[in-house]
Amino acid sequence: MKSIVILASGSGSNAENIISQFKKNGTIKVTAVLTNKQNAAVLQRCERLGVPAFYFNREAFSGSEAFLDMLKGFNPDLIVLAGFLWKIPSQLILAFPDKIINIHPALLPKYGGKGMYGAKVHKAVKDNSDVETGITIHYVNENYDEGAIIFQAKTAIEPSDSVEDIAKKVHQLEYEYFPKEIEKLLL
Ligand code: GAR
Repeated sequence: MKSIVILASGSGSNAENIISQFKKNGTIKVTAVLTNKQNAAVLQRCERLGVPAFYFNREAFSGSEAFLDMLKGFNPDLIVLAGFLWKIPSQLILAFPDKIINIHPALLPKYGGKGMYGAKVHKAVKDNSDVETGITIHYVNENYDEGAIIFQAKTAIEPSDSVEDIAKKVHQLEYEYFPKEIEKLLL
């Protein structure tokens, strides 16, 4: 059985989608979800779905052996950032080479970098009157949103689309493609 560990900071709708998709799969399993937000909605989702979920603080995350040991204890074949907003410390990148991936809600290299997440990305896309946006799934390196790109998918934007409409379109792409791309990486 291949093991996935998900890191999520917020709502966790992608985490839920990935967990649900792989519940039907006999060879891949979400072993744990880790969050840096004590009251993140992803925690309730995990409780409902029966997936172990754990909270960690910044001190634990940025360099403690205990955190690394916990992560190694899950024996992850892939660590998936699904709406996770902290930069990954180099210690973790070195410990899991080519095993940490992220999803970004835009077509990188556009709209990436520190502070570009969630609705802020969609608002920037709207403010620039872009005619398309999309998703980028990429490996994680020491810099925000700069690791090698694995997959991108696009969606058209109508002039009448609100920021919320754009977010919905992007989420649909994420739900459709993120589990598929994870599965491909693990096959
Ligand atoms: C997703 O759209 C994801 O692409 C984005 O946060 C959202 C989380 O939604 N990630 C980033 O912006 C990372 N820079 P969710 O919590 O409902 O899965």
